Amino acid sequence: MHRLQLRVGVGRRRVTSSCCAALPRRLPLRGSCNCLRCRQNTAGLISVQETVPFSIPALRVGAVALPNAVILAPMAGITDAPVRRMAVRYGAGLVISEMVASEALLEGHPEMTLRAQGEGVPFHAVQIAGNDPRLMGEAARMAEAAGAGLIDINMGCPAKRVTTGAAGAALLRDLPLAWAIFEAVRAAVSVPVTVKTRLGWDESQPTAVALARMAQESGLAMVTVHGRTRCHFYTGRADWPSIRTVKAAVAIPVVANGDVVAAADGAAILAASGADGVMIGRGAQGRPWFPGRVAQALAGQCGAEDPPLDEQRDVLLELYDGWLSLYGTALGVRQARKHVGWALDAAAGGEGEAHGAFVARWRKRLLVLDDPGGVRAGICAAYDELMWRAAA
Ligand SMILES: Cc1cc2nc3c(=O)[nH]c(=O)nc-3n(C[C@H](O)[C@H](O)[C@H](O)COP(=O)(O)O)c2cc1C
Repeated sequence: MHRLQLRVGVGRRRVTSSCCAALPRRLPLRGSCNCLRCRQNTAGLISVQETVPFSIPALRVGAVALPNAVILAPMAGITDAPVRRMAVRYGAGLVISEMVASEALLEGHPEMTLRAQGEGVPFHAVQIAGNDPRLMGEAARMAEAAGAGLIDINMGCPAKRVTTGAAGAALLRDLPLAWAIFEAVRAAVSVPVTVKTRLGWDESQPTAVALARMAQESGLAMVTVHGRTRCHFYTGRADWPSIRTVKAAVAIPVVANGDVVAAADGAAILAASGADGVMIGRGAQGRPWFPGRVAQALAGQCGAEDPPLDEQRDVLLELYDGWLSLYGTALGVRQARKHVGWALDAAAGGEGEAHGAFVARWRKRLLVLDDPGGVRAGICAAYDELMWRAAA
C-alpha cells in the first residue's frame, strides 16, 4: 500500500507522518497533505516537503476516466441531485441518478424529470429502466442531450411492479430482450453505456455471466453486479465471491455491490470478488461522505472515519436546502424526512439504549414538522446535544 509521506519542520523540530492527523497541531505550518480535511482547508496548516506518489484505484469506463473506483449506487427516492452533489464533494468516484422509467421520462412525467436532473453534479450519469428497446434508446438520447455523460441500464430492480412489466431484474430471464435493449441504447448515444444487474433471477438461474458477456459484445463499458439474486430481494448477505464468476467472464470493468457499510468493506469486497470497483448504496444513507471515505481507505489514506459532528450538521443543513429547492417546500420537507432520520442515526453512532432513545426522541420531534425553519432549528439543537454529550 502506498502512503502519502509528509515531512514537516519548524526550527530544529522535524516530524514525519503519513497524514496531517498525526502531526502536532501547534506547529505553525503551511500547505496540506492530501486527506479530505486538508483538501477542504484551503488556509492549510501543514507544509508538504516531500510527497511519495500514491495510487487511488482508478477506473476507466469507456472513454471516461473516473477519479477512483468507488461509486454511489442509484437508489430511487434517495440519490437525488443534492445527495449526489454531496457524495462527489466528499470524493465518490461516480454517482448515478435514481432509476428513471424511460417511457415516463419521454412523456415528461415530473417525477422522472426530477430524477434525471444532474444540476451541479460535475459528472452526470443517468440510470434508465424499461423493457422497450426503442423507447429506452430515445430516453437515453434525451438524457445525453440534457447533459448525461454516462447511461446506466437497470437490469437488477427486484420490485414486483418493475419485474411484472418485464423490466429491471426480469431481463435476467429474457436475454434476447436484454440484448435488444443493449443494442438500441448503445446505438442511440455516444457516451458510455453500462448495466447494473444481480447474480441472476434465482440461484438456479445465475444468468449474470451470460448477461455480462452480451453487454461486452454489444459494446457496453461496465457491468455492476449486486451480489444477490432477484429472488433474494435484500435478504441475507450479499454473495461477494460469486461476483468473481462475472469478473472472470469479461474484460470490461466489473463493479461489485452489496452490503458495503464500513470503510474496510471496500477492500474486502474487492478481494472477495476480484472486481474493479465498488458500488455503495444503503451504507451511504445519511452518510453521503461514505463512498469518498471508502475511496480514501482503498488508497491507503487517513481520515476514513465520519466527519466531526459540526461538519455532519452542516452537510445535513446544506442538503436540506437542496431538497427544498429541488422539490419545492411542501414536497421537499416530506422528501427530506427520511434523510434527516438516517443522518441523526449516523451522527448518534453505535447502538444501545442511549443511542436509540436519542434518535427516537429527535425523530419524533423533527419528522412531523412542516415548517422548514423549525426543522433547521431542531437539527441544530439535536447536533448541539450530541456535541455537548461528546464533550462531557
Ligand atoms: C430504497 C432503494 C432504492 C433503490 N433504487 C435503485 C435504483 O433506482 N436503481 C438500481 O439499480 N438499484 C436500486 N437499488 C439497489 C441499490 O442500488 C443496490 O444495488 C442495493 O441496495 C445493494 O447495495 P447496498 O447493500 O450497498 O445497499 C435501490 C435500493 C434501495 C434500498
